[in-house]
Amino acid sequence: MKVLGIETSCDETAVAVVEDGKKVLSSIVASQVDIHRKFGGVVPELACRAHLELLCPIIKEGLSEAAVKLSDIDGIAVTAGPGLVGALLVGISTAKALSFSLGRPLVGVNHIEAHLYANFMKEEPVLPAIGLVVSGGHSDLIYVKGIGQYELLGRTRDDAVGEAFDKVAKMLGLGYPGGPIIQRIARKGNPEKISFPRPYLPGSLDFSFSGLKTAVLYHIRKHGRDDVEDIAAGFQSATVDVLVRKTFKTAEATRVQTVLLAGGVARNTVLRKRMKQEAMDKGLTLFHPPPELCTDNAVMVAGIGFVKLRDGERSSLSLEAHPDWVLGRTKASPPSFPRPSRGRSKEGVGGC
Ligand code: KG4
Ligand code: ZN
Repeated sequence: MKVLGIETSCDETAVAVVEDGKKVLSSIVASQVDIHRKFGGVVPELACRAHLELLCPIIKEGLSEAAVKLSDIDGIAVTAGPGLVGALLVGISTAKALSFSLGRPLVGVNHIEAHLYANFMKEEPVLPAIGLVVSGGHSDLIYVKGIGQYELLGRTRDDAVGEAFDKVAKMLGLGYPGGPIIQRIARKGNPEKISFPRPYLPGSLDFSFSGLKTAVLYHIRKHGRDDVEDIAAGFQSATVDVLVRKTFKTAEATRVQTVLLAGGVARNTVLRKRMKQEAMDKGLTLFHPPPELCTDNAVMVAGIGFVKLRDGERSSLSLEAHPDWVLGRTKASPPSFPRPSRGRSKEGVGGC
């Protein structure tokens, strides 16, 4: 089954053709970085306009790269949320038009679920797992019981991790997007020279990175930014410490064997290395997608779209954008994973 995936939730216009949820026939990502760079972040109105201009040409490109015609497409998957409402609508309207005119089924998918699915493109991770989705808009800690069965355990209370990377890079005058630049600059710095706070939020599985970002701002105000490499290394190290510790505490408490890392920040080599080391130390298995499937792409959308279409899920032509679509049940629902036994961990879930 060949699925055409369409992704327009933020600032990447992306199209892919994927066969049976695994075989990538084509993947086109038209980045809007040059448009947003001078603003130091994504400007929603500009993102929507760019999606409008880019989407149809890259659908043609994606089909041509896959050496298929529109009539060879068996189904269409599109990101329906979360994301920027106007940006999502460009992808959704186009997907609906294709579905209607070709008479092929349509399915709207959750962007965070698609990020997690990127781990299943080449591998078969054993479930249940703890998933950490870290991107420009999200820092979500998710209990993955099965594909399609999720429980949101923690999320960002303010800035997402990628957003914090982008804002710190802006403060340091390094450019946009900040994540890859901070990673590069940090290589030359000493991560222990400046000790930035580690916002562990004891007792909670949520994340908060705005205080850390403010600590960087105060450091710059007081000491200037001559030691830019040490600031970048110190900030990156503090961020990675929090992500690694909270993820593995949760994995331990929920007794899973698998950890899934996903989202744009999962490209960060220091984060990947530390997660890998921690997984080895704890006897767990870590999965992370290849770099090109960490940042926004349509392969992951077509991939999870295939699973849903195969299982009979369909969206109607009244599919709407869901800008605040939360993956997983709310915290009010009882947890579906085994509770940690008393005394198993001194600090328990979130006791970081
Ligand atoms: O998943 P993504 O492409 O878009 C969203 O869904 O938000 O993630 C983009 C984010 C940006 O904030 C970018 O700075 C960050 O991922 N990022 C990184 C790295 N590469 C991209 N952050 C840290 N280190 C990196 N190497
Ligand atoms: Zn994303």
